[in-house]
Amino acid sequence: MSIQAAYDNWSTTYDADENLTRDLDRIVTKETFMGLRCKSVVEIGCGTGKNTLLLSQIAQKVYAVDFSASMIEKAKEKVNSANVTFITADITNQWFCNNESADSIVCNLVLEHIEDLSFIFSEAYRVLVKGGYFFICELHPFRQYGGTQANFQRNQEVIQIPAFIHHLSDFFQAAKNHGFLLEDFNEWWHEQDQNKPPRLVSFLFKK
Ligand SMILES: C[S@@+](CC[C@H](N)C(=O)[O-])C[C@H]1O[C@@H](n2cnc3c(N)ncnc32)[C@H](O)[C@@H]1O
Repeated sequence: MSIQAAYDNWSTTYDADENLTRDLDRIVTKETFMGLRCKSVVEIGCGTGKNTLLLSQIAQKVYAVDFSASMIEKAKEKVNSANVTFITADITNQWFCNNESADSIVCNLVLEHIEDLSFIFSEAYRVLVKGGYFFICELHPFRQYGGTQANFQRNQEVIQIPAFIHHLSDFFQAAKNHGFLLEDFNEWWHEQDQNKPPRLVSFLFKK
């Protein structure tokens, strides 16, 4: 099953399924952005809008992008804010945004599905204003090394969504190659993760 078809399918239960990674990511995003204010945010891979609602409260304008029309439909059910525009697009193609038009780009649990990190960093750099931030929160590669990847259950079958392993150094190299500076880096555990490798990794890069 393609990544897009898998998310179209998962959209019906994504919010209700038990998913500690999704839940931890929500906490991380809240901790990171609470109290901040931005003019224009581009959220790539917004999914069902779990983080879009929070972003709509801290930004004057949010562009929330995803290539799964069904995930976006779910997001629209929960986010009904005049300052949010949903866009159905594939982020592996040139982004719709003008050069230097956003002051933040936010990306949660998406890059495991993207083979070429370099393209994403080059588009993020193009679209951000000078001094703008690129926030990334992803499944930690240590978990990927153990065989974990995005998956969901349908009719007693586990559907594994195609995923690529990006080592920590891949993120740092891609960022450096495109001129970003590292502002912050964190590893995160869910409260049920005692004695396990970190579940999530987050990066805050600055243009
Ligand atoms: C695990 S979900 C995360 C959704 C949301 N960011 C969250 O944290 O709940 C991954 C999302 O990335 C989207 N996605 C994956 N590859 C994409 C691509 N090439 N272009 C646009 N969206 C993509 C999927 O459709 C899906 O909605």
